[in-house]
Amino acid sequence: MSALPAARGPLSAAVLALLTAGPPAAGRLLAAPGTFAEPWGEDHQLALHLCYELHDRGLPGVWDGWEWDPELLRFRQELERPFLAAVRAEAEPVPPLREALEALLTEPPDGTGPSYFLLAEGERRHAREYLVHRSVYHLKEADPQLWMLPRIHGSAQAVLTAILYDEYGAGRPERAHASLFARMMAAFGLDPGYGHYLDLVPAPTLAVVNLMTLLGLHRALRGAAVGHFATVEITSSPGSARLAAALERLGGGPDGTLFYREHIEADAVHEQLVRRGVIEELVAAEPQCARDVAFGFAAAGVVDGRFADHLLGRWRAGRTSLRSPLPDDPL
Ligand SMILES: [Fe+2]
Ligand SMILES: [Fe+2]
Repeated sequence: MSALPAARGPLSAAVLALLTAGPPAAGRLLAAPGTFAEPWGEDHQLALHLCYELHDRGLPGVWDGWEWDPELLRFRQELERPFLAAVRAEAEPVPPLREALEALLTEPPDGTGPSYFLLAEGERRHAREYLVHRSVYHLKEADPQLWMLPRIHGSAQAVLTAILYDEYGAGRPERAHASLFARMMAAFGLDPGYGHYLDLVPAPTLAVVNLMTLLGLHRALRGAAVGHFATVEITSSPGSARLAAALERLGGGPDGTLFYREHIEADAVHEQLVRRGVIEELVAAEPQCARDVAFGFAAAGVVDGRFADHLLGRWRAGRTSLRSPLPDDPL
């Protein structure tokens, strides 16, 4: 990330003001932080995203020591609580794990998400916007999931490690999924720099990534983190096939489709591994996690559903799905 993003309200402004005032110092207080009552809002999601980036790549010009500053951690908790509560409220009622898994394995015959739109009627500008949204996660794929590794043990940990090894290119850095995504962005004339488009990315996109990090960072939520990751792995293969076809139709070329082509096959394998090797083994070792795994499925559905609704709502109205259009795409 080359520059800090602009604030979107009092919460993100308070975080930015604190972080840019120098190293953590005892007694420094967050400015009046405003309301936490809109957890899905732009301000709330950006404030949370900034807090999480301190655990991840860090923020430009910001002292690394802020990561473990007690006051900022307390503030982060104030942001996390209503967000998680809002996700839970929309995820209920969570079905039993077996039932939830079966539902996940069945692709609806009448799917309507962004991959369907892009395949059937998307234009190049839609594809470019889609890549910008997804870049917030895919340029750091699968860093938020690595937090899970020391929190589960035995067979589930071994198999999860094998899946994550693949995400990083299985020993070949040029095959790391984040690198493939960067190549795809470049093929579509986009800047693949980490965080380059953060100011353009709206709250529904940040919520998708913030939820991953939230679940990863809390040991108490390890079952939900596994469920969330499993949702991505289980549902990704057919969606990746649609996206590869859509991007090819829109002029992606070999580099511009490689990331999704790679995921058609990789995630068909990962689907099996995550079901049999991770979920079944985790629940066998820690039966109390079963409900949380099912919640992780539902939680992924909540944030992905909101993201999809946002994109399709904007695109069908002929508007940009970003906070403002890409400079060279006057949608
Ligand atoms: Fe991947
Ligand atoms: Fe995968």
